[in-house]
Amino acid sequence: MKRIFLIYIWFYAASMMAQTAYKEFKPGQLWLDDKGNHINAHGGGFLYYNDTYYWFGEHKESGKMGHKALVGVHVYSSKDLYNWKDEGVALAMANDTTSMLQKECLLERPKVIYNKKTKKFVMWFHHELKDQGYKAALTGVAVSDNVTGPYRYISSFRLHPNVWASNFTVAQQQNVTLATKEGVEKKQKKIDGVIMCRDFESGQMSRDMNLFVDEDEQAYHITASEENQTLIISKLSDDYLSMTDEYVRVFPGEANEAPAIFKKDGKYFMFSSYTTGWKPNPGRLAVSDNMMSGWKALENPCRGNELERKTTFHSQSTYVIPVVGKKDAYIFVGDRWISDNLKDSRYIWLPVQFKNGLPFLKWNDSWNLDFFDK
Ligand code: DGJ
Repeated sequence: MKRIFLIYIWFYAASMMAQTAYKEFKPGQLWLDDKGNHINAHGGGFLYYNDTYYWFGEHKESGKMGHKALVGVHVYSSKDLYNWKDEGVALAMANDTTSMLQKECLLERPKVIYNKKTKKFVMWFHHELKDQGYKAALTGVAVSDNVTGPYRYISSFRLHPNVWASNFTVAQQQNVTLATKEGVEKKQKKIDGVIMCRDFESGQMSRDMNLFVDEDEQAYHITASEENQTLIISKLSDDYLSMTDEYVRVFPGEANEAPAIFKKDGKYFMFSSYTTGWKPNPGRLAVSDNMMSGWKALENPCRGNELERKTTFHSQSTYVIPVVGKKDAYIFVGDRWISDNLKDSRYIWLPVQFKNGLPFLKWNDSWNLDFFDK
């Protein structure tokens, strides 16, 4: 009798699992993990390691407190990109109130990369100090021997104190100095480089950020700087744990947030957004042959009706996943933020499509990886 009961339980559990196993992506819907909870990894980043995908993101709590980091960076694993196993908290917020990483600070857009030489997993994230809103504008770094953590927090800092961007010329610096002397910048805020000059000694601001590792293993840190007006791209050190002094300004004064880079056929593409807080805005796309120069803005990559184009399908970019084992297969990952309950924010995954070598996005209620075989 007991045996029959156990067999019944086993069949019941197996059939439940079969029912809940996802076989497709449904952008914007609740997405349950192996424990039946909506995946809690917002502003996420992805790493493929040992035949497994890892999804790192902001763990959010319900309601208004969800705006603060109370738990840390959540990590999930998956073999197929549809079904995700909860692997717990990779980087935990500190209980120690003297720590910069104490609970109730802000921790956004965590990204993890693997360093083949040191065999360490390195996490970078946007970090704001407790009770200071978005004023501190720091980038933070943590490290682990294991992909799912625990990650050890190292430090948070502003970028490149006392170092000029390599594409910020002496003439530009003099222009700002002159404008400042004449008090022009008060009337005409748009003088290029005013904020870079203001922050020269203390270091440049870093808010929405991302990482990109090139085929030669060089890693780059891409971030919204200068009061979110200008992107900064910096080369990381060989061990990925710090910055080199090499950095450039990209799209000065054009207010890009949420950068997400991928590479196809030798070209770098960057999805990004405008700056409208938690509200969505029109998607942006840029291309370059070189990470450190020559970035050119392209048109809005979203195809669809006006609302879809104006709101990037009601989402904001956070990452582009290269699908392993499929040719030219990239997934655009965005967050559909729900600002009064960030925990409930949804994920917008869409296949990146190409026309004449340029990426574009189209809405799809449900789709699977076979899409890339067509
Ligand atoms: C937009 C950013 O992309 C998000 O990560 C977050 O910082 C919000 N702004 C806050 O308003």
